[in-house]
Amino acid sequence: MANPLVRFWLDGEERQGPLGVPVGLVLYGQGERVLGWNEVTGQPRGLYCGIGHCFECRLEIDGVRDQRACLVPLAAGMRVCRQVPPTPLAFEDAP
Ligand code: FES
Repeated sequence: MANPLVRFWLDGEERQGPLGVPVGLVLYGQGERVLGWNEVTGQPRGLYCGIGHCFECRLEIDGVRDQRACLVPLAAGMRVCRQVPPTPLAFEDAP
């Protein structure tokens, strides 16, 4: 029996996904490859290990930053946001 579909939001956009499936897998299945950006280089990041080890899939979920999307099961009404990368390190631009 398939998991029921529930509504959730990604960066404010309404989506549907199967209840209980890891958020990262749901988003991957919907074509989302970029889940965030490296804090230092600004390079896009996404699912990599899929088992909670690499931390490349971090998202803000229901207001809590740095949740590993590959481990958090989708729930109805979830608010999922890609985390905005910080500005590049200030000392790189210092004279
Ligand atoms: S994909 Fe590696 S921790 Fe989530």
